[in-house]
Amino acid sequence: MNEAQKPPTKPHVFIVGAGPGDPGLLTLKAAECLKKADVVVYDRLVSDEILDMVPAHAEKIFAGKAARDHFMPQEEINQTLVDLAKQNKVVVRLKGGDPFIFGRGSEEAIVLAEHGINFEVVPGITASAGCGAYAGIPLTHRGLVTGVRFVTGHCREGQHLDLNWQSLADPNTTLVIYMGLINIEKISSELIKAGLPADTPAAGIERGTTPEQRTILTTLEKLPQCIHRAELKAPSLLIIGKVVDLANTIGWHTQAHQCVLDDET
Ligand SMILES: C[S@@+](CC[C@H](N)C(=O)[O-])C[C@H]1O[C@@H](n2cnc3c(N)ncnc32)[C@H](O)[C@@H]1O
Repeated sequence: MNEAQKPPTKPHVFIVGAGPGDPGLLTLKAAECLKKADVVVYDRLVSDEILDMVPAHAEKIFAGKAARDHFMPQEEINQTLVDLAKQNKVVVRLKGGDPFIFGRGSEEAIVLAEHGINFEVVPGITASAGCGAYAGIPLTHRGLVTGVRFVTGHCREGQHLDLNWQSLADPNTTLVIYMGLINIEKISSELIKAGLPADTPAAGIERGTTPEQRTILTTLEKLPQCIHRAELKAPSLLIIGKVVDLANTIGWHTQAHQCVLDDET
């Protein structure tokens, strides 16, 4: 039996979360995976500092994705992982944040499982945990909220954002919205229509955990205008809920910007 015919005895694909940007937030396990990689298939949101940790001998394949601009279709990424694993390479599939939170890591794991390919999943710090911590916005806080919900603000190509607004409009829950910039007007107006008070505190955090982090603080009603005024770009996370006010007291990483609109001055 030659090398290629031997059944794999170790996981061949590591689906790894790289965290939200600050390279210091990479887990020890993720760093170990990078060290032993033969090939790293990475996404757009993985920081340069983390890519610099990939050994020189390892091949790097960019599978980057940006909303509405898919560089490598998901099917092609899946097939690439399968092909590389079948070549008995140690493959690291490196994703921003956590692979199982709006990261399609589970879709890739399903394909690997269907092909009988061993894999491991290494969790990463998701954007909500990273941005919340660095902006001084705890996602839960005793006495303020009883839970937190992670929601996507972006739908599949060509589809309308169709969320259960009634269930999301809960003043006792923190709402964290990933990929919410494109639909921010709709998100704000639908939540208010469903009963969430217009003056609910809200934040937009761009490039959280990096030295370029920008945080704007406002209310649910003014969030769309404030985002446009500040020209927030992806990757940005939206946090809506009473906990956002705590940023004024415990924000520590970079100065947050209190958004004031013209008609308020
Ligand atoms: C495709 S999702 C990937 C989420 C990722 N798997 C995670 O767990 O964080 C991309 C979205 O995550 C959010 N995001 C990721 N990194 C971020 C960062 N450093 N700052 C702000 N938002 C971020 C943004 O909403 C961005 O549009």
